[in-house]
Amino acid sequence: MRAYQLTGGGFDGLQLMDRTTGEPGPGEVEVRVEATSLNYRDLMMAKRAAGVVPLSDGAGVVTRVGEGVTEITEGDRVAGTFFSHWVDGRAFAAMHNAALGGSVDGMLAESVILPAHGVIPVPAGWTSTQAATLPCAALTAWNAMVEGRQLGAGQSVLLLGTGGVSVFGLQFAEMFGARSIITSSSDHKLEIMRSMGADVTINYADTPDWDKAVLDATDGEGVDLVLEVGGAGTLPKSIAATRFDGQVALIGILTGPAGETNPFPIVSRSITMRGVYVGSRRMFADMNAAIEVNGLEPLIDRTYAFDQARDAYRHLEGQSHIGKVVIDHT
Ligand SMILES: NC(=O)c1ccc[n+]([C@@H]2O[C@H](COP(=O)([O-])OP(=O)(O)OC[C@H]3O[C@@H](n4cnc5c(N)ncnc54)[C@H](OP(=O)(O)O)[C@@H]3O)[C@@H](O)[C@H]2O)c1
Repeated sequence: MRAYQLTGGGFDGLQLMDRTTGEPGPGEVEVRVEATSLNYRDLMMAKRAAGVVPLSDGAGVVTRVGEGVTEITEGDRVAGTFFSHWVDGRAFAAMHNAALGGSVDGMLAESVILPAHGVIPVPAGWTSTQAATLPCAALTAWNAMVEGRQLGAGQSVLLLGTGGVSVFGLQFAEMFGARSIITSSSDHKLEIMRSMGADVTINYADTPDWDKAVLDATDGEGVDLVLEVGGAGTLPKSIAATRFDGQVALIGILTGPAGETNPFPIVSRSITMRGVYVGSRRMFADMNAAIEVNGLEPLIDRTYAFDQARDAYRHLEGQSHIGKVVIDHT
């Protein structure tokens, strides 16, 4: 079977290799991967990691099950979970030892072997191409909006940019009956966001004081929740755009990994800051149930063939996409 491997030299250094897969051991399953999707993290991993199969997000069909596996059977359509061993409960340090496409081999392969508790049936009726969008971006948005102080109907959420996490955030806001405010550097993308239900759209390139525009749109109060994917470069404005006793879900670092933040506005506005790192298998199951009931469909920007993996990375890096970039392995 064929699999890509990172070499540490960015995505141009991706190597396509022939690998043998063994038998699934006790408690494991073999999955024929039919589709994967890319996340911003995969661009970072391509520079940092070597000798590992990339991509956390993939879905396909179970082809063999190991001894003792009862809850998953051959023929099931499943997605892998980002953290193979975070099944339920609180986040824990060792979950990082089995993060797909980073600390362990990921999904950019024709076939993978995973622990049975590290895969989950996809929403009913979903194709592998659709389901491959869920494990990282969707679950992160879900965790941010549900597992902290849940975003209620009639409350407001601020979404930054139109990448994978933010677009799922917009779709979940619609599902919850919340008011969505989304920013983008592109008017064209904002038009698409409005067609998907965004209540307020702000071009952050034309409106550098977008925090003030958020306050204007919320009667000067600010939003109940921010899905903060920008990091140090956007955090002060995200805090300024949050209402008293609101919350900021700290998710991403699109503007860079480090910077200074003045804690005083957080204190004086009684804001809750909550770090969010993808989510557990239990959260994934809850999200899939909500997706099924509400008939949500992912926004797939573009799909590439398995042999075009580098082009898919390049497209994601260019940031012209909206929502998710997918690789079809079939
Ligand atoms: N903590 C976690 O568990 C977790 C999980 C998933 C992702 N993340 C992080 O969250 C971030 C987003 O990930 P993703 O996969 O959704 O990324 P993505 O799909 O690559 O999103 C890229 C988009 O972000 C927008 N953007 C870039 N710079 C921006 C800025 N300064 N202000 C506002 N928007 C900006 C742009 O949208 P426009 O073109 O519309 O301007 C760009 O197209 C990344 O830092 C990623 O590492 C964290």
